[in-house]
Amino acid sequence: MTVPEIRRIGVVGLGAMGAGIAQLAIEAGYETIGREVSDELGHAASGRIAHFLQRKVDKERMSADEREAALGRLETTTELGALFDCDLVVEAIVEELDAKLELFAALEGIVRPDAVLATNTSALSVTEIAASVSAPERVVGMHFFNPAPLMPLVEIVRAELSSDDAVDAAFEVGERMGKQPIRCHDTPGFVVNRVLIPLLNDCIRVLDEARVSPEDLDTAMTAGAGWPMGPCTLVDLVGIDVHVHASEALYEKLREPRMAPPPRIVAMRNAGLLGRKSGRGFYAYD
Ligand code: CAA
Repeated sequence: MTVPEIRRIGVVGLGAMGAGIAQLAIEAGYETIGREVSDELGHAASGRIAHFLQRKVDKERMSADEREAALGRLETTTELGALFDCDLVVEAIVEELDAKLELFAALEGIVRPDAVLATNTSALSVTEIAASVSAPERVVGMHFFNPAPLMPLVEIVRAELSSDDAVDAAFEVGERMGKQPIRCHDTPGFVVNRVLIPLLNDCIRVLDEARVSPEDLDTAMTAGAGWPMGPCTLVDLVGIDVHVHASEALYEKLREPRMAPPPRIVAMRNAGLLGRKSGRGFYAYD
């Protein structure tokens, strides 16, 4: 499969990750179209991107003209069909396999046959997602980290049938976005989550074992292990529901006890304490 030069990027799902990816794409000079299920959600995402770019202007990391030009490259839509002329589509919707399978099958009927389809999944199998299309060689993983505009890494994930061209194209896009891409194969959790998810679960178990407060555990890991933010702050940022889901997905595949989400965090998820986005997790937010 020969991949076209990537000029236009589609992003499906403009939540925290999708909006961050769209921000990176417009800053890197790509024409970008983001798809959300309602105009309200699409406008809210463009508003957040405009806000973060304004902060960059305020801090003199970007000129006002550059901000205007970047925002001029961003379009939002509720119609999946509007992504027809994208060279690369990055999926960042809910972490549910069936929803992703349905989306990829629909995208295949919309975009050109040579367009690359990427998933930002953090814990599902890229190979399983790729199996929903008739040309799985065009499917790769592009796994960004939260917050996407700030975290330098993107994992470029090769599924069983990904073509070299599709992997290389995704890698080059990652580089042009100013990221540090790495290549890896489609194994549960890829590289970072394979290590980070059990580690964060250990941290949550330590809360009860050592009878330490979330504040003190965060101090322990920032002041004693040099983490940029403590584990409770990090899980609140990522989303308690996202973390529980990723843990469950990895446990299902690897059957390692440390992968299983600790009961304490499952209870938090069930109670609607989802972290920053719901206003309450380990900490309370305004
Ligand atoms: N999008 C865009 N810009 C953002 C942003 C966002 N979501 N959040 C913050 N910013 C911008 C803001 O403009 C902010 O400046 P102002 O507050 O002046 O507006 C600017 O970035 C800098 O923010 P901070 O001052 O908070 O930056 P910091 O130096 O404290 O670093 C951090 C923040 C990079 C997040 C750092 O704390 C860090 O590295 N934390 C660890 C994060 C981490 O481990 N992420 C991985 C999570 S795991 C994951 O994502 C995998 C998965 O699959 C679930």
